[in-house]
Amino acid sequence: MILNHTVEALMERRSIRSYRSEQVSEEELTDILKTGKYAPSAMGRQARHFTVIQNKALLADIRAAMQDATDDPFYGAPTVIVLSAPADARFAPEDTSCAIMNLMLAAHSYGLGTCFIGCVRDVLRTPAIQSRLKLPEGYIPYSCITLGYPKEHADAPAPRRTDDVSYVR
Ligand SMILES: Cc1cc2nc3c(=O)[nH]c(=O)nc-3n(C[C@H](O)[C@H](O)[C@H](O)COP(=O)(O)O)c2cc1C
Repeated sequence: MILNHTVEALMERRSIRSYRSEQVSEEELTDILKTGKYAPSAMGRQARHFTVIQNKALLADIRAAMQDATDDPFYGAPTVIVLSAPADARFAPEDTSCAIMNLMLAAHSYGLGTCFIGCVRDVLRTPAIQSRLKLPEGYIPYSCITLGYPKEHADAPAPRRTDDVSYVR
């Protein structure tokens, strides 16, 4: 494999499910968000919004609204970033996912941990929670990640499938 910093980051990033309570530095947070803004977006419209949640009460309310409220879906992360997009945008899942991937890789390159948290999406879309996310008019939440300093190393990656590439030449 031809290795460089970018490829190494892609290969090394793992979902982190254990965080230190210390908050992410403002400088790192600002830089990570900037990389999200440079992600590709359909027609270059940048039709996605970043909500940085660092409010413990809101995180606790999201946790409490989950069906299985015994586990913390955010694994104790001090920051959660929600990506929202217009409800009627054709490429909203793609736009938000591209931005999320940039955030995760930039965070990893700074020694920060992230995990894509899909299980909270329905709760984020409930009126009680969505109304507190400071979304632009007509936007709804699509994706969400945790962000924080990792408490532990992640497990080794699962072996990769070998039957998931086709060539048409
Ligand atoms: C769309 C999506 C939703 C996910 N939702 C969750 C989730 O709710 N909770 C969680 O712990 N991990 C979640 N993950 C993380 C995956 O479990 C993780 O990416 C996968 O196991 C591979 O591990 P890796 O990220 O370390 O390579 C989600 C990932 C994706 C792409």
